[in-house]
Amino acid sequence: MNAATLDRERLETFEHQLIDTLNRGALCLMISIGHRTGLFDALAEAGQVDAAALAQRAGLHERYVTEWLGAMVTGGIVDHDAQTGTYELPAEHAQVITRSGEENLAVFAQYIPEFASNEDAILTCFREGGGLGYEHFPRFHEIMEEESAQSVLPALREHIFPLVPGLIDRLERGIHVIDVGCGRGRALNELATWFPNSRFTGYDLSEASIRYARDTAAARGLENVGFHALDAARIGEVEPEGGTDLVVTFDAVHDQADPDAVAAGIRHALADDGVYLAQDIDASSSHHGDLDHPLGPFVYTASCLHCMTVSLAADGAGYGAMWGRERARDLFRRAGFRDVEVHKLEHDPVGVFYVCRP
Ligand SMILES: C[S@@+](CC[C@H](N)C(=O)[O-])C[C@H]1O[C@@H](n2cnc3c(N)ncnc32)[C@H](O)[C@@H]1O
Repeated sequence: MNAATLDRERLETFEHQLIDTLNRGALCLMISIGHRTGLFDALAEAGQVDAAALAQRAGLHERYVTEWLGAMVTGGIVDHDAQTGTYELPAEHAQVITRSGEENLAVFAQYIPEFASNEDAILTCFREGGGLGYEHFPRFHEIMEEESAQSVLPALREHIFPLVPGLIDRLERGIHVIDVGCGRGRALNELATWFPNSRFTGYDLSEASIRYARDTAAARGLENVGFHALDAARIGEVEPEGGTDLVVTFDAVHDQADPDAVAAGIRHALADDGVYLAQDIDASSSHHGDLDHPLGPFVYTASCLHCMTVSLAADGAGYGAMWGRERARDLFRRAGFRDVEVHKLEHDPVGVFYVCRP
């Protein structure tokens, strides 16, 4: 490399970009802590407080809270009044970083420490191949439930189901619905409450999540929903042919070990007039095409350190979260869906919705 030919301006711009990345990466860890400790919520409720009062309100140690506030203030998240020594979370910030705001982006920050805790093990995968199974991600299902509770649930009735004309009427009259990769069953338990005439079945590989889903259903007295721990690749074996009217997958195809078997099983279970509604990450199936993706680096990171590696751990396809529209469409067509519509919805800039009909 000849230092004399370097474009100094480009070098300095990149150096600033890297410094900014270091700061923002560090902030992700502190945002996750602020979310899990309830510090953002406590700050929003308190208005103007000093560190001691905030620590007391949140039931935390003052010294840690003070250092955390340092990161929040220098990171532009919390305002600080040097004269009174008080801190304040601006109302606008509270809308996107607390549990009572419009949307809580702090939920997503939790993925960073969850994935980073596996750095040593993932280095081994980089060198030797293979993957890390779900047992390496102790908080994944909890975070995912929190995420989909705000990204999927509130949009189901108003935005997602209207993609299939007449679907809400059919749900009200009574149909059979399967959620594949249902996680902790948040969506399905909600649907079972909204549509008492319909019957709902959830499948997930995670026994702990299935137990959680069942306990929630029992606590709510729901009798029209059942949850089963099952490898989704076996759905074609356990579900009768054509016995289901609607199958949904929320973010649950790209990390499967055998997505072809899953899609074929879904097709097998669906009645000829049934619909498969799949939500997945919107991407282009090419790195270049993802340059304008609003969360490109974030989702590729999540994919490499979670979605792809859990699939590879089971000797799977390892599509990864950014597998993209093209490969998704091909997969659904291979499974026997002749009509695959692709929809973007305004409420979900990162997701894409496929409406697949036999
Ligand atoms: C990204 S999460 C989505 C969970 C849920 N649909 C939601 O939106 O909250 C993917 C889910 O697929 C499940 N999963 C992965 N591989 C599976 C398999 N082979 N069979 C059944 N479920 C599987 C995981 O346990 C996880 O709950």
